[in-house]
Amino acid sequence: MDKLIINGQKKLNGDVYISGAKNAALPILIASLLSKEELKLKNVPNLFDIKTTEKLLFAMGVEISKIDSLMKLSARDIKDFHAPYDLVKTMRASILVLGPLLARFGSARVSLPGGCAIGSRPVDIHIKGLEAMGASIKIENGDIVASTNGLPGGKLVGAEISMSQVTVTGTENLMMAACLAKGKTILENSAKEPEVIDLGNCLIKMGAIIKGLGTDIITIEGVEELNGAEHSIIFDRIEAGTYMVAVAMTGGELNCIGVEPDKMISIINKLRETGVEVIESDNIVTVKSNGTLKSVSIETAPFPGFPTDMQAQFMALNTIAEGVSEIKETIFENRFMHVQELIRMGADIEINQNTAVVRGGKMLEGASVMATDLRASASLILAALSAKGTTVIDRIYHLDRGYENLEKKFNQIGAQIERVN
Ligand code: EPZ
Repeated sequence: MDKLIINGQKKLNGDVYISGAKNAALPILIASLLSKEELKLKNVPNLFDIKTTEKLLFAMGVEISKIDSLMKLSARDIKDFHAPYDLVKTMRASILVLGPLLARFGSARVSLPGGCAIGSRPVDIHIKGLEAMGASIKIENGDIVASTNGLPGGKLVGAEISMSQVTVTGTENLMMAACLAKGKTILENSAKEPEVIDLGNCLIKMGAIIKGLGTDIITIEGVEELNGAEHSIIFDRIEAGTYMVAVAMTGGELNCIGVEPDKMISIINKLRETGVEVIESDNIVTVKSNGTLKSVSIETAPFPGFPTDMQAQFMALNTIAEGVSEIKETIFENRFMHVQELIRMGADIEINQNTAVVRGGKMLEGASVMATDLRASASLILAALSAKGTTVIDRIYHLDRGYENLEKKFNQIGAQIERVN
């Protein structure tokens, strides 16, 4: 099991190149199932979850070739419509194969994703939406077994679907399914995350007819088939936000290169509230910090609100910033796994249901801590970078799921991080 050893209190200065977004790449790789022609992708991040998605698609019969961040996928002859438990249990996003398999082949067997560290994360909205399009779905031995038997021509039928909660992958699954359904589908209460829009833009390049991306209501006119396309994955706003919080905490001056500031407004505004200077240009965001910070209260919300995937990182910042802050997590019921580990490093945090009260102004001390989920691990890295002494972080496979070349990128800007196994 790999560990990271981090010597803290090193200022961060220089340039960091932001990779393609994990949460855009995952649905877009899976969208290759919707066409028999080749999907050419650029800026695909090299992450553990991408490897898992490749394995899943390859097992179904998708031909995949990859050179660095270029990837070509072709789902010409798919022979297996099954997403097995051993893959789904490591990556919940595997549920995204359900919509495309049903839409193109009329059949799918996808293991029910279990809960995960941050919450139960049901998929009832995915299932209800597909049933509204005519799919017959049952749960059999822990698998979702879905088919379009009995539908005319075995094709899904467009429907008006109002999602009871804003769900990122729910919106993505139903949008992909609707592309090949008969007639029009209207998705109400749709997610507006940039990654959902990036998937939609890729589907449009493949020949889908989609309107309303980035609004509450997405309309999809089903077509007979989708073609191949070329698409470059959007930048990862959560990776960028993580580096921006890091330099805010350590002090220094960091250029995040390859970002679109207009897709990070809530993160940038929160950072400015802490007192750091944030300078935006068309594809670079520069953060300047002298290390003295004011703590900021946060309430997570669907885009364009403050992203839940940045909550743990800002909690780490608040533990050292001056003042008392409240962090309210409204998306997931258990996304405070990082709190106990931060307390081991000297943080003063109290949890009261879905709100954490952080008393800042602390100097954190290095300790041995354990990563529990992707973004919690990121907050431990940030705490370790600003702490006195050395921190050892265990179970960092969580980090490798979502951060490309993490220690290499951090060491290039002045950090001292060593990976040992
Ligand atoms: C996506 O997860 C992201 N993952 C998550 O990022 C992110 O935290 C989350 O959206 C919120 O932004 C990917 O895109 C692969 P949801 P997702 O469906 O789609 C409830 C990371 O760190 N819900 O938007 O699974 C659900 O329980 C990961 O990169 C239902 O009740 O999240 C949650 O409370 C972590 N029924 C809320 O909606 C459903 O059918 C939002 O979940 C679906 C969701």
